[in-house]
Amino acid sequence: MDTKEELINLLGQVKKQLLYSQEIGLDAPTLSSHSLQYLREGLQFDREPLKENFDCNSLEELEDFINNCNKCRLSKERKNIVFGEGHPHARLVFVGEAPGMDEDLTGKPFVGKAGKLLTDIIKAMGLTRDEVYICNIIKCHPPRNRDPERDEIEMCLPFLETQLSLIQPEIICAIGRISAQSLVRENFKITRERGQWQSFRGIPLMPTYHPAYLLRYPQAKKAVWEDMQQIMKKLGLTDPRDLRE
Ligand code: URA
Repeated sequence: MDTKEELINLLGQVKKQLLYSQEIGLDAPTLSSHSLQYLREGLQFDREPLKENFDCNSLEELEDFINNCNKCRLSKERKNIVFGEGHPHARLVFVGEAPGMDEDLTGKPFVGKAGKLLTDIIKAMGLTRDEVYICNIIKCHPPRNRDPERDEIEMCLPFLETQLSLIQPEIICAIGRISAQSLVRENFKITRERGQWQSFRGIPLMPTYHPAYLLRYPQAKKAVWEDMQQIMKKLGLTDPRDLRE
């Protein structure tokens, strides 16, 4: 984690403590006008330009480039590259871990059981899959659904960085442990740290549970919905449930 990210994390923790103190009725310490603005409006993130690793001017060019990739062992067994899909300038990008078997067969991200649940979550936010962008940390299916290995992630991550630099989203949602560990920090603990804003290259990032985890532990759906509500709030979206009669 670089100094700026550390500072952002630290400020997030201080903010939580201050809000908590306020909730339990403690007097707030005297704060500067900047601090008060931060508490009211949240941190305003500076955009750092994402690294341009490849000479690609569009997502199509990047996809063509990746289609010929054989940098790691996963290229040997893959049926299809799963590049990602959705709005080319989506405000919100979901980044999963790695394509599963269904995704390998179709070349599309999140189309299996976990994918159907992700689609439902997106709908519950009042959005469609076409309005957001969905992709993964790595673009090829690891055999027997094993976790991606470190070198596979390292080789594939520059593709995602370029993809994000072309999309320029306002928010990234890291889905699951592997995604958060790849985008935030290696020792990220999804059970303890989900739901807390992080940042990736200056873009606010919300880590949440993977829908595959929700299929096994449906009681975790409430936590994911809370995380999605934080995203909706930052995007200025109305909760569709509030519109019901
Ligand atoms: N799980 C993921 O992390 N990504 C997919 O595309 C499908 C399942």
